Amino acid sequence: MNNNKRSLTAHQDDFFSVVKALLVIVLLLSIAPQALAAGDAEPAAKVVNPGAELWREVRQREAPVAGTTQVAGMDSGVLINIRGEQWRTFRMQQLIPAAGALLGGVLGIIVLFHLIKRGLRLELGRSGNYLLRFKEIDRVLHWFVATIFIFLALTGLILLTGRVVLIPMVGHDVFSVIASASKEGHNLFGPLFLLGVIGLFIRFVSKNFPGKGDIGWLLKAGGMFGGKHPSAGFFNAGEKIWFWLVIFIGLTLSATGLILEFPFFGQDRLIIELSLVLHGVGAVLLVAGLFGHIYMGTAGMEASLESMTSGYVDANWARQHHDQWAEACEAEGAVIAGEELAKKQRLRGTKNRVPDRPAAEEGQ
Ligand code: HEM
Repeated sequence: MNNNKRSLTAHQDDFFSVVKALLVIVLLLSIAPQALAAGDAEPAAKVVNPGAELWREVRQREAPVAGTTQVAGMDSGVLINIRGEQWRTFRMQQLIPAAGALLGGVLGIIVLFHLIKRGLRLELGRSGNYLLRFKEIDRVLHWFVATIFIFLALTGLILLTGRVVLIPMVGHDVFSVIASASKEGHNLFGPLFLLGVIGLFIRFVSKNFPGKGDIGWLLKAGGMFGGKHPSAGFFNAGEKIWFWLVIFIGLTLSATGLILEFPFFGQDRLIIELSLVLHGVGAVLLVAGLFGHIYMGTAGMEASLESMTSGYVDANWARQHHDQWAEACEAEGAVIAGEELAKKQRLRGTKNRVPDRPAAEEGQ
């Protein structure tokens, strides 16, 4: 009986404790909104954000937000650089999709063209006689520039499109290794491209000025779509256009690349962002041109590559594609018979090396 009485008292105590707790919660809930509302009513009076004005400007996002600083240095007073966001949007929403469309489109056109036309064949077959087209120094220079450019193009495209193209394929970890290796390689070999472009300019500029037959060559699209092959000198109009693209875009890529790689010439962020735009657009255009150049130098034109490997071309190739140059060589007596060339090339492997003599140099 006594036990029952004690347990009833304990239950009553528990009950009153719960009621007390509930009362406290109800009281708090009824007071809290008023207290919060009171706090909302006068926030500025209690805590004034000294940067409020600044952040209002930032949110407008119309121009870079400048502050004041004692740190000496270019743009050190710029708190928020809004143009960085403009560059990012341009890169992600315009440059990358346009690069994909252009490079994919050019590749598609080349493949389609090759499937229909099968490239330009040697109409009269091989003559067995040869003309010297490029000296060794020119070939070494060409392959030096080609190797560096292709490396820079690959690493550059990895940096430009890797997030979109490679991350879904290889994942973040592998991509971070590929991307940082690409960046180091791109920065290391980039400056060498400038030397190559200057070299190409010095060696080839004299043969790339507009000349007789260039307009006709362009109007007939180089004889790509049938009809008689248009007349051309040492280089045809298409090759001249490629040369000037390599020089102008190559110099632009080199200049903007140096601005980006060595940002201590006093260039501010606007210059750097403009350089990024020019560098990206120029690179994509030159790579698109390179697809066409590689095709014409290999599968697109039979026996063309020999000029950049051995230095010699078949006389029939020269007559078909560069008739003015071939005539000048023939007039000069610079045609070399196959056996003579074979002997010459055998000798070139010995100490009694036969010196290269470019054919019809002045007429080119
Ligand atoms: C695998 C890549 C390449 C191949 C197969 C290739 C092939 C050729 C061939 C066969 C020629 C001689 C054309 C002729 O005899 O008329 C040539 C010339 C030339 N190539 Fe390449 N090339 C390649 C990459 C490059 C690159 C990357 C550049 C520069 C960025 C370049 C710039 C030039 C220039 C400037 C000429 C002389 C054309 C002129 O001055 O008008 N090439 N190439």
